[in-house]
This record gives sequence, C-alpha cells and structure tokens, in this order.
Amino acid sequence: MIQFNFFSLGTAFVILQLLPGVVGWGKEGHYAVCKIAEGLLTEDAAAAVKNLLPEIAKGELAAVCSWPDEIRGLYRWSAELHFIDTPDFLCNYEYCRDCHDSGGNKDRCVVGGINNYTMQLHKFQGSASEWKYNLTEALMFLSHFIGDIHQPLHAGFLGDLGGNTIPIHWFGMRTNLHRVWDNMIIETAMKNFYSSDLAIMIEAVNKKITDTWSEDISSWENCTSINTVCPDPFASESIDLACKYAYPGATPNSTLSDEYFLSRLPIVEKRLAQGGVRLASTLNRIFKTEMLISEA
Ligand SMILES: *[C@@H]1O[C@H](CO)[C@@H](O)[C@H](O)[C@H]1NC(C)=O
Ligand SMILES: *[C@@H]1O[C@H](CO)[C@@H](O)[C@H](O)[C@H]1NC(C)=O
Ligand SMILES: *[C@@H]1O[C@H](CO)[C@@H](O)[C@H](O)[C@H]1NC(C)=O
Ligand SMILES: *[C@@H]1O[C@H](CO)[C@@H](O)[C@H](O)[C@H]1NC(C)=O
Ligand SMILES: [Zn+2]
Repeated sequence: MIQFNFFSLGTAFVILQLLPGVVGWGKEGHYAVCKIAEGLLTEDAAAAVKNLLPEIAKGELAAVCSWPDEIRGLYRWSAELHFIDTPDFLCNYEYCRDCHDSGGNKDRCVVGGINNYTMQLHKFQGSASEWKYNLTEALMFLSHFIGDIHQPLHAGFLGDLGGNTIPIHWFGMRTNLHRVWDNMIIETAMKNFYSSDLAIMIEAVNKKITDTWSEDISSWENCTSINTVCPDPFASESIDLACKYAYPGATPNSTLSDEYFLSRLPIVEKRLAQGGVRLASTLNRIFKTEMLISEA
C-alpha cells in the first residue's frame, strides 16, 4: 500500500513537471511580446484594445497576456491550442497534416487558435452579434497564442512533446529543454545582462527593432491573404529554428551553459521582437476595419 502510494506520488510529480512546459513562453516572455506590441499599436487599435481589456489589466494588455495559462485547468479544451506538434525529425510544418489535437480534431492547434480568435475579433467587434463571443477572452487568447507560436519549441517534435521529455541541466539546475526556451534563457539573460529587470530587457529588444531589424519589419508583417493574420509562416519558422538551434547539442541529460545560452539568446530576443511586431500589426489590421465600418 505504501509502495503504491509512492508510485502515485511519483506519477503525479512527473505529470506536474510536464504541465508547465506546454504553456508557452513563461510569464516574462508573454509580457515582453505584448509590451512590445503595445508600443506599436495605432491610435484606433490602442483604443479598441483598452476597451476590451478586463478591469484587472488596468489598461495594460501585457498584464493579462498570461491569462490563457492561468485558466488552462478551468478551460481544459484550450490546452491544445497553445502549440503545434510536428512529425519527428522532419523540420517542416503543414497545416493539414499537423494542426489537430491528440484526438485528431482538425484546427485544434496554436495556428487554428490564432485564426479562430482573429476571426472573432475581426467579424464581431462593435456589432450587434457581439454577444456570440467573449471578445475580451478572444483578445487575451490571440495575444497569448501569437506569443506562443514564436517560441521555437511550440512547433517542436511530437515524440518529445516539444522538448518537454528531454531532461536538461541548465547550468546547475534540473529542468527540461522546453522550459529552457520558455523561461531559462530569458531569466538568465535578465540576471546577467539586464539587472534582473524585464523592462530593461524589453527596452533593449525595442532598440534592436528600430536599429538592427528595422529593414526586416515589413517582411515580418507580410500578410497577403484576406485573413487579417498569416500564422503559417510563424510555425514554419519555429520548427526550422527548433531544428537549427533548440535541439542541436541538447541531448537528454546534457548540461547546457554559457556556450548554448550565449548562442541562443539572440534567437530568443528576435522571436520576442517578431511576436510583438506581428501581434501589433494583426491588431492594427483588425481594428482598422472597425474604423472603416463605423465611418461608412
Ligand atoms: C474558438 O473559440 C471558441 C470560443 O472561445 C472555442 O470554444 C473554440 O474551441 C475555439 N476553437 C479553436 C480551434 O480555437
Ligand atoms: C468575458 O470573459 C472575461 C474573462 O474570462 C470575464 O471576466 C467576463 O465576465 C466575460 N464577459 C461576459 C459578458 O461573459
Ligand atoms: C510576402 O508573402 C508573399 C507570399 O505570401 C511572398 O510572395 C512575398 O514575396 C512576400 N513579401 C515580402 C516582402 O516578404
Ligand atoms: C537521464 O537521467 C535519468 C535520471 O538519472 C535516467 O533515468 C535516464 O536513463 C537518463 N537518460 C539518458 C538518455 O541518459
Ligand atoms: Zn501558452
């Protein structure tokens, strides 16, 4: 009996260890993506966003960008909308092949979630049918999922659950590869380079957006479809980066330290920047239409 109890405890512990891994960027990463986006919103989009935010946000989108992680236990159906798994070792992504949940239900992945909540905000904002969806939730889901899809291991291999089942020693600490990319790289960077202050790190990324990457912004924002948002390339880029930077050198039980950290940090900073820029341009497109409709 005692042995049985120990076994259950062990199983529960393993499950608990797996759970945080599938949530996406940690709190800092989501905050950063949304904060960067807030700085790039048009006046109309900023006003529409403020209007939809729940009271607890106190007017700040970034304050509620981890909300979908907090309610995952309550809204169990939303858990599989945080990521997309791709077939082992293929390094590419295809919507029809890969965007489904573990039960095979189509569209139930992070790309489907982004399309879903963009559509809700786009079609129903300000209209009489607003009751149909909770647009406050749609805004928080969309902002969170555009962050998630930019974390390379959110489009990782199915066999290792996007790195969740790869145990890693991060400097001295036991963790897994997925969490290295969700949290550890950002937290180590804050500690080593940014006085443990997320605002300073975000400022540094913002500076690279206006200097280093200024010429790339228009291609990041590129969306020629009529869908307002184009998440397929975000997923393709992520699995490509996972194959080039996340998995190499990160074999089970390996110790990752300065060499891995310093060479991957620029990738993480660029993905936070791209997530922020693309969230802003998506919201700007969504809430531009509203203005045109209300002017007509
Ligand atoms: C779309 O949004 C609705 C409302 O939150 C939700 O019930 C549904 O599961 C979502 N579907 C996808 C694919 O995101
Ligand atoms: C919309 O969702 C938010 C967050 O879950 C909730 O606080 C609010 O009461 C909901 N609004 C309606 C009208 O149900
Ligand atoms: C934008 O995307 C389209 C395809 O979706 C591509 O043909 C075009 O070259 C892209 N433009 C830029 C500037 O990246
Ligand atoms: C990693 O370490 C764990 C715990 O020490 C061990 O059970 C497992 O077999 C190791 N895996 C590999 C691939 O070395
Ligand atoms: Zn998430």
